[in-house]
Amino acid sequence: MPAIFMGRRIVVKFGGALITKKDEQSVAHLQVIRNLCSVIKAITEEGIQVIIVHGAGSFGHLKAKRWRLNEGYLPDFVLLDDDSSSQQEAVDDVRNDMLTLNAIVLSELKHVGLNALSHPPHEWASNLGPQFLGDLARFNSDDIDTIHVTFGDVVNVDDETQFGILSGDDIVARLSMELPNIESLVFAMGGVDGLLKVPPHLATDEDLIEMWSPEVSYEGLHQTDIDVTGGIGLKIQRGHLVAKSGVSVHLINGEYPERILNLVRNQPWKGTTILS
Ligand code: IPE
Repeated sequence: MPAIFMGRRIVVKFGGALITKKDEQSVAHLQVIRNLCSVIKAITEEGIQVIIVHGAGSFGHLKAKRWRLNEGYLPDFVLLDDDSSSQQEAVDDVRNDMLTLNAIVLSELKHVGLNALSHPPHEWASNLGPQFLGDLARFNSDDIDTIHVTFGDVVNVDDETQFGILSGDDIVARLSMELPNIESLVFAMGGVDGLLKVPPHLATDEDLIEMWSPEVSYEGLHQTDIDVTGGIGLKIQRGHLVAKSGVSVHLINGEYPERILNLVRNQPWKGTTILS
């Protein structure tokens, strides 16, 4: 039986809108990823093990939306003038695009001297939502320099829908609640300092919600035109589930990744805490 990990351990989600240009097919924000990875390195140097889950952004949502992959197999659905010629081909293409984005994250982790171990969900997970199937024991190791990495992906589904989109937000929730000794879950987001009381383009510093609980109302932009998963609403729902399990949950602007370092160092940081 593997030894139970006794040290400090956190889960960090790199949001797709943070690490990619959301409306330009398969373009990564390399500098943002690089900055995040050097902070991850600094966190491990504090003796904290980090598990990373990244989103898809423009490496996943655009094609998945065009091919309606979030609705599963649609026998009569055709799309002309696309570089994929069927839904099944689009499933393979999105999986490959996700592997490309994942390779960028892995290479930046290696660049800062960390050992990255990738777990592509289409290889080990099936079904959708927070009850997806898949053995999470693969993320368990007590080697602090090994960073386990996974991501939102197109996975197989056991019923007639055949496939669907498993969001990284569902994966982080399960990892945070089921792996031993997770102290925090951090959603690193793009373009916002946390949850806001008003739409992001109108927000000032006073509009940041520092502590969120279900009675607090917030404004979130959910780009349903390009987003095939749940946007901010899904993060809040899953985050709240995780907070209720006793893990601390935070939303932080990933363009300032040192805020994550400050959080784990118990120093002042800016962002939102999701209360149970
Ligand atoms: C979506 O995963 C996966 C695909 C569209 C293939 P997420 O829900 O974790 O992605 P982001 O963070 O919204 O981009």
